Amino acid sequence: MAALNGRLPLIAGNWKMNLDHLQAIAFVQKLAWSLKDARHDFTTVEVAVFPPFTDLRSVQTLIAADKLPIVFGGQDVSAHDSGAYTGEISGAFLSALECSYVIIGHSERRTLHNETDEQVAAKVSAALKHNLVPIICVGETAEDLEKHGPSAVPVAQLRAALAGVDTAADIVVAYEPVWAIGSGQAATPEQAEQVAAQLRSVLAELLGQDVAGKTRILYGGSVKANNIAGFMREPNVDGALVGGASLDLTEFANIVRYQKHVGV
Ligand code: PGA
Repeated sequence: MAALNGRLPLIAGNWKMNLDHLQAIAFVQKLAWSLKDARHDFTTVEVAVFPPFTDLRSVQTLIAADKLPIVFGGQDVSAHDSGAYTGEISGAFLSALECSYVIIGHSERRTLHNETDEQVAAKVSAALKHNLVPIICVGETAEDLEKHGPSAVPVAQLRAALAGVDTAADIVVAYEPVWAIGSGQAATPEQAEQVAAQLRSVLAELLGQDVAGKTRILYGGSVKANNIAGFMREPNVDGALVGGASLDLTEFANIVRYQKHVGV
């Protein structure tokens, strides 16, 4: 059962550089048990985790062996297929590990690794080529917000990221204001909705109404169990990309179960 608009809500946990492969196995196992105990209906809210690369094989094996209804993906992908790119990970490798998704253009990659809009676009194309659904991250800094308002930078980043994307593409967009990431100061649901609506019009303009109507737009930045419901009530917000709170089992499970504990 999808939401009324036909888009299946997605709650995605971005672990960043946390939890080694043994911790990952324990965490995913406990998450699945706790959601099953709580009778979470995975067909109404999709649950995804994004562990570090070194955990992916362990997570894949666990999920396949125990048939857990949780999907997973990488936190980044190379724009290249293979070759002399020390330290990079190909989309082909992520696909071979049964990743469903890959996060692309997270603000930490843009800031700490100087990723440009062009590189983000190339990575989006690489992900699609290898049958991975890219979660394209866009968002403005506090300075951008002051100078250009809330949507100018995310809209420009999305336009650039879609350079090589055709209308048949399956993508997810994550609006993550940089000032809200890890700060404890989330955007308001109204702020998130305003930008998400703008991003959806960009999707409609560049990829057509059909894709715009199907594409999930997530909000990310200090999402917690006590604020998720407000975001999920907004018509253009279809889920969340959760950082810090995705490492706390109870908190993350409660974010996933937002429909139950707040009666959305
Ligand atoms: P946060 O991170 O939930 O810790 O703010 C979100 C993200 O970086 O994706």
